[in-house]
Amino acid sequence: MRKNSIAICGGAFGDEGKGRIIDEFTNSFAEERAVVVYRDNGGANAGHTIFHNGKRVALHQLLSGVFHKNATLILGKDMVLHPGDLVMEMHDVEIAAEGTIPATIMIDELATLSLDTHRAFENVLKQTQEGGKGSTGRGISPAYADVILRHPLKMRDIRDWDEAKIQKHYQLYEALISGLGGDLAQTEVPTVHGDTILVGTFAEFSKRLKEQVEIFKSCINDVHEFVATAWENEETAFLFEKAQAIGLDKRWGVYPDVTASDCTLDGIYSSTEGIVDPQLIETKAAVIKATYMSSVGSRILPSQMEETLANRIREDAHEYGATTKRPRGITYLDLPALRYFLRVGRVTHLVLTHMDIVYADTKIKVCTEYKKDGKNVVYRPDQMYLNTVTAEYIELETWDSQIAKKAKSRTELPQAAQAYLTFIEQQLGVPVIMITTGAAREEGIRF
Ligand code: IMP
Repeated sequence: MRKNSIAICGGAFGDEGKGRIIDEFTNSFAEERAVVVYRDNGGANAGHTIFHNGKRVALHQLLSGVFHKNATLILGKDMVLHPGDLVMEMHDVEIAAEGTIPATIMIDELATLSLDTHRAFENVLKQTQEGGKGSTGRGISPAYADVILRHPLKMRDIRDWDEAKIQKHYQLYEALISGLGGDLAQTEVPTVHGDTILVGTFAEFSKRLKEQVEIFKSCINDVHEFVATAWENEETAFLFEKAQAIGLDKRWGVYPDVTASDCTLDGIYSSTEGIVDPQLIETKAAVIKATYMSSVGSRILPSQMEETLANRIREDAHEYGATTKRPRGITYLDLPALRYFLRVGRVTHLVLTHMDIVYADTKIKVCTEYKKDGKNVVYRPDQMYLNTVTAEYIELETWDSQIAKKAKSRTELPQAAQAYLTFIEQQLGVPVIMITTGAAREEGIRF
C-alpha cells in the first residue's frame, strides 16, 4: 500500500455529497503536508459547493484543495475540460480567495477539450435521440467520442495554437450539426454560471478560445514526471477525486443513464499511464447516502420510494441537481445495487452522508434483496432485467437526528444509528470510515 493516499468515489448514482468529504480529507492532509489532488474523469458535468471565508464557491472542473497553498491540483489526461468554464471558475475562486488562487494548478497537456461545439452538438442530438435526454448538456460524451473517433483536440493544441486543427474541428461540428438540421454558429450553449452564449462563427469561437487559454496557459504541462516523482515520495499525500459515481459509469450504469467516463478507481491507472496502481491506494472509499439513494435520470430501480416520503426527503435534503437543478428521483437504500457497485468498483471503505435525514415517525426501510421467480437474484445494470425483479425490504429503527448531529464519536451516536452502521457494514462487507449528519464542517465524524 502507498502511505498517505486515499481515493474517493461516488458509490451510487452521483450526488452523494462526496465533494464535502473530499474537501475534508484534502484539508486535513494539507494542514500537515504537501498534497496532490488528482482527478482523472469527467469535466464540467460534475459539481460541488464549498465555502471559503463564508463565500459559496461551486467547483466543477477545479478540485478540492484549491484554497490551500499546500495543494497541487492535477486535472488529468482522461478528463474532458471546457476552457471557458475553467476561466470562469478560476475567477470565482480568485474572488473568494481575495487574491490569486492559493493552490498550484497543473493541467495535463494531453487532457481532451470539451468545447462549445460539443455542447451545441449534444443540444442538437438531444432533439433526435432518446438516450441523450438526461445528459447535463456540458458536451461530455461528444468530447469522449472524439477520442474514440480519433479526432480529439487536446490541451496542448490550444496552448500551442494549432489553428488548422482547431478550424478543422469547428468545420466538422458545423457539418455534423447542419446535417441534423441545426446551425452551429446560432446554437446557444450553457456556461458554468447557468447562462447561455451563442457559439458564433469560427472567428468568434476561436477568438474566445484564444483569450481563455492565455489565462491558464502556464498551467498546461507534461505532468507525467511530476506525478511519478510525487507518487514515489510517500510523505506527499495523494488524494484522488473521482467525479460522478460508479452507478453512472459507462460500463456499470443503467444504459443510457450513464456518463461517458470511467467512474471507478480503475480510471486512475489509465489516466496516470500506469504510474498509479489504484489497488495500492491505502483507502479506496465510496460515498453513499446513509438511508436512501437519489439520482437524476430515467432508470427505474425495483426499490422506488413511495412519493410522500420521497417528497419529504427531496425538500429536507434539497435533492435537486447541482449542475442542472433538476429534481432528483429518490429510492430506498438499495443493497443489491450497492453490493454490485462496491464489487465492480473494488472499493474497500464507505462514507455515509446525510445520517440526519431520518424521521421519528418513520422506520428506515432498506432494500436487502432482489427476487425473481421466487429466487434471490443480483442487481444488473439493465433496465429490462430490473423491470422483472422485485425488491425485498427490512425495516430498521430510526434515531433522533438532533442527537446524532451532536455526536463527536461513533459511540456517542444514538444506539439505533450505531446498530444501523453495523448492519450496513455487515451487509456490504466493508467498514464505514466517516459519516456526516449535516452540511456544517463539525457535523461529521471520522472513525
Ligand atoms: P453527462 O455526463 O452530461 O453525459 O450525463 C450523463 C448522465 O450522468 C445524466 O443522467 C447526468 O445527469 C448524469 N450525471 C453526470 N454527471 C453527474 C454528476 O456529477 N452527478 C450526478 N449525475 C451526473
